Amino acid sequence: MLSRPVSPQLAPVLPESVTVRAPAKLNLHLSVGARRRDGFHDLTTIFQALSVYDEVTATVSPTLSVTVRGEGEGDVPLDSDNLAMRAALALADVAGCQPAGNLAIRKAIPVSAGLAGGSADAAAALLACDALWGTALDRAALLDLAAGLGSDVPFALTGGTALGTGRGEQLLPVLAAGRWHWVLAVAAGGLATPQVYEELDRQRDGDPPASNAGLDVLINALRSRDPAALGPALSNDLQSAALSLRPDLRHTLAAGAEFGSVGCVVSGSGPTCAFLTVSADHAVQLAAELTGAGVCRTVRAAYGPVGGARILPAGD
Ligand code: C5P
Repeated sequence: MLSRPVSPQLAPVLPESVTVRAPAKLNLHLSVGARRRDGFHDLTTIFQALSVYDEVTATVSPTLSVTVRGEGEGDVPLDSDNLAMRAALALADVAGCQPAGNLAIRKAIPVSAGLAGGSADAAAALLACDALWGTALDRAALLDLAAGLGSDVPFALTGGTALGTGRGEQLLPVLAAGRWHWVLAVAAGGLATPQVYEELDRQRDGDPPASNAGLDVLINALRSRDPAALGPALSNDLQSAALSLRPDLRHTLAAGAEFGSVGCVVSGSGPTCAFLTVSADHAVQLAAELTGAGVCRTVRAAYGPVGGARILPAGD
């Protein structure tokens, strides 16, 4: 087992503390295939990383612990169910070092909202502990560890706009010209992802899963810089299941359309609804209108694509 070096002459100087920030994600397209033998579903998805970030600060400490502050802090587990803690344990295991450190999570990404907040925390913890412990894993090894932690964790590391296949963990970058402006309407209460997939299977009742219709149109729209082309191309096979479990989301989607969004989609397994707008100003205006209409718990304007998890310079 490695431990923190005791001889400063021989060993690199390791930091006392490392902060990493990682983005939320939105699925612009999500086709869900059949349930596999391992219980996961084959997916074809287009991810985009959005400018809503969680931060994880890993600090030297004799034992491994997690603290959480911010959005939804009471709903985040502090034990080994916590994805950031699982990330630290997985890294220590492959690197053969002691899993020691405090992980202070500062949350801005809503919990159980379909925005991959837990995955962002896991990706951030991987990078933070890798730097704190000096384990210096290469990118491929980090992505491999990430995939073992959850289907969306590799994307939280890479960010940008990407095609995800397999269970979502196999990624290829996709060109998304320019900056896209979104409004996220965050519902009260969360949705459990496995339950949403189960509801989709129930709705399909053994029918063959839908194809990837519309994916080419969406990829072309992303190159066009034209929100009017992208809006109608947004799609999510999980949306019908999320709406069946949360019929109130229909009002949220209808309100966004009424207030002039150019496209809308339930984010991942929901219940967050994402609305595409034509500019940053339009996003601020739509956010105000959705807040006024009282159709969700809270509203955020965000843009994408943004980069994946990255270490913040000390002092930021
Ligand atoms: O990989 P992750 O931990 O995010 O998945 C949470 C749950 O969502 C899985 O246990 C599974 O029930 C469902 N899921 C799925 N197919 C996927 C991704 C997730 O069925 N491709």
